[in-house]
Amino acid sequence: MSAGPDIDLPGDKSLTHRALVLAALANGESVLHHPLTSLDARSMAAALRKLGVSVSPLRSAVRINGRGLRSFSQPTGSIHCGNSGTAARFLLGLLAASPLVVRVTGDRSLRRRPMRRVTEPLSRMGASFIEFAGDGLPVEVRGGRVRPLDYASDTASAQVKTALLLAGLIGGVEVSVTEPVRSRDHTERMLRALGVDVETQNTTVHLSPTDSLPRFTGRVPGDPSAAAFLIAGALMTGLPQFTLRNMAINPTRIGFVNALRRMGADITIREVSEFLGEPVGEVVVRASELSGTTVEAHEVPTLIDEIPVLAVLASTCSGTTTFRGVSELRIKESDRLALLASNLVAVGADCQASGDVLEVEGMSRPPKGSIETGNDHRMAMAFATLDRMPGASIRLSETASPRVSYPAFFEDLDRVAPRG
Ligand code: S3P
Repeated sequence: MSAGPDIDLPGDKSLTHRALVLAALANGESVLHHPLTSLDARSMAAALRKLGVSVSPLRSAVRINGRGLRSFSQPTGSIHCGNSGTAARFLLGLLAASPLVVRVTGDRSLRRRPMRRVTEPLSRMGASFIEFAGDGLPVEVRGGRVRPLDYASDTASAQVKTALLLAGLIGGVEVSVTEPVRSRDHTERMLRALGVDVETQNTTVHLSPTDSLPRFTGRVPGDPSAAAFLIAGALMTGLPQFTLRNMAINPTRIGFVNALRRMGADITIREVSEFLGEPVGEVVVRASELSGTTVEAHEVPTLIDEIPVLAVLASTCSGTTTFRGVSELRIKESDRLALLASNLVAVGADCQASGDVLEVEGMSRPPKGSIETGNDHRMAMAFATLDRMPGASIRLSETASPRVSYPAFFEDLDRVAPRG
């Protein structure tokens, strides 16, 4: 059988954000090859430049000149994070332990996303925050010396965990974070790869202070959250086989592969290399007959960003698919729980969202109708993928939002799931 189209996935979003930040805090020039170059990654790079770090334009490689853990300088004006929740929350952590006064803001969608989940524990460390819009942005951070923190978080959020670890790293204090379920562990792995003492026990992460981070060079592996759309498109349209090389395969990120396998998908993964403690693999997807499954609450952190595309895929399979414990979807780039349900109904599927459960029934007719993306990149990409189903006809309210995370999305989708 032919190997099928060969796709060069964009660099992973979570890893690009973290690598930019850690390079900015390191000593000397780091070079990152194949970073994500989307709007979200640019927001992070621009924020670091505003804090005085030299970061070259985000192209096929980016050079970052780190000047150490405590080298940020006072910016003029606010730092604008665009649509990026990851950039905003990481910055709140970085600024909490820096002796600066900085206002952080973002676009309309980001301004309504909750920040107290980060500012509350950072306040316990000694930082102060002035809110201008309740729980959302803008927020002014008054940072400086911080105290150690031992924090039990009531949500599994890698953005919260990372913000607290970054504050401890810059502030030179111990930080422990316990989560109800373990969230993606990129920050821990990358810090460990750079020689920092970070220990993990069950769902608790403990960081010990360090004096400096070494500079580093590497190639950012492909984004599994971007891959999920292509995999779903290929499975929906029956592409016999295709291969994704150099995809990040951290188990805390690829819960969607487990869910797809339970649905009957033939997906094989072979580990081939490593990037800062992160496993990188080759993924082969073969045409398969799919049926519904149940995604339990404990799995949700491992596939949180893939629920929109899993839900649209579920609407094309036989049987019912149930997602439990998905209330975090309400506070993503849009209220994804409400929008997913209303959009699936709008294209003819039987779907319900109640409490923290989403239920999708497989439909027998091709999806047809107009959907509202809410300017949410993952909503737009999920329904653009569903539109590749044979016989489908779906109109999206906009097609610009994918630039936030996946600039070449439509070109790549055309290659694995061309319009029939
Ligand atoms: C991310 C963590 C997740 C995820 C987001 C990226 C990260 O958010 O949805 O796209 O890189 O740490 P939460 O930490 O809020 O769950």
